[in-house]
Amino acid sequence: MLKCNNFNYALFGNPIDHSKSPEIHSFFSNQTGIFHNYKSINIPLGEFFYYVSEFFKKNGKGANITAPFKQEAYLFADQLTERAKIAQSVNTLKKVDNKYILGDNTDGIGLLSDLIRLNFIKKKSLVLILGAGGAVRGILYPLLSFGCSIFILNRTLSNAEKLVLQFNKYGIINVFNKNLLKKKHFDLIINATSKHDQSNKNIIDLSLISNKTCFYDMNYTKSISCLNTYVKKKSNIFSNGIGMLVFQAANSFFLWHNIYPKTDSIIDILKDNIK
Ligand code: ATR
Repeated sequence: MLKCNNFNYALFGNPIDHSKSPEIHSFFSNQTGIFHNYKSINIPLGEFFYYVSEFFKKNGKGANITAPFKQEAYLFADQLTERAKIAQSVNTLKKVDNKYILGDNTDGIGLLSDLIRLNFIKKKSLVLILGAGGAVRGILYPLLSFGCSIFILNRTLSNAEKLVLQFNKYGIINVFNKNLLKKKHFDLIINATSKHDQSNKNIIDLSLISNKTCFYDMNYTKSISCLNTYVKKKSNIFSNGIGMLVFQAANSFFLWHNIYPKTDSIIDILKDNIK
């Protein structure tokens, strides 16, 4: 049961302990002067609908949703933005006119904004995405719309194939096949496999990486994974996902309050403080 109901914005997930979202939203609240009482709530698996309904019945006005509940949030929403419909995954909910719950997905625009900030992406970039889970579902449409060509490499081939079938109407997207890519280097590699599963080194052949290949890890722990160390044998252009986290939060904040907060200084603060 939700014990406290004096907050009106929340993050729901499991686990949630190390989330930076409350700090980011408190920063946005101070910066814009918009009162925005944001709390993170760890909810038991299987109880998403109950907890989130209770929250919106009480003072809840908006919520962020993280793993593993983004698909449930997609089903929970009464209406969906176009990008949430395409992703079939929701990371932001908003109570609209006290009548219905709108579901949005700001992960993709969050990632794209950070890749542009870092100068990691160009219109025709050749991109390799590692993973084919919920996180990838949210980022494919914005990257394809930007003009990138995408290859997906995943432990379970059928999960990558499903995504390709779903998204190939939006641009050039294929399952990774090294025979198709002889002598080609990727411009950008994005690690979207789950945080605890980065032991998957040797997943890609170093011949596909040049010293100009950018590597973006959507996770944002400071510890360098085996995969990152492996990629760094060829390229040193690396970023973790802290900027993506800030930009997706800024876009959620915009959905809730119609004001887009400044992002640069909070990215700098968090970059220096992650563990
Ligand atoms: P998220 O919502 O964070 O994307 P997810 O939907 O569980 O979480 O997806 C996790 C991704 O990491 C999947 O692509 C998964 O591969 P499978 O489709 O084969 O399950 C990938 N992954 C998990 N453990 C992995 C491992 N040990 N090696 C390689 N990939 C792994």
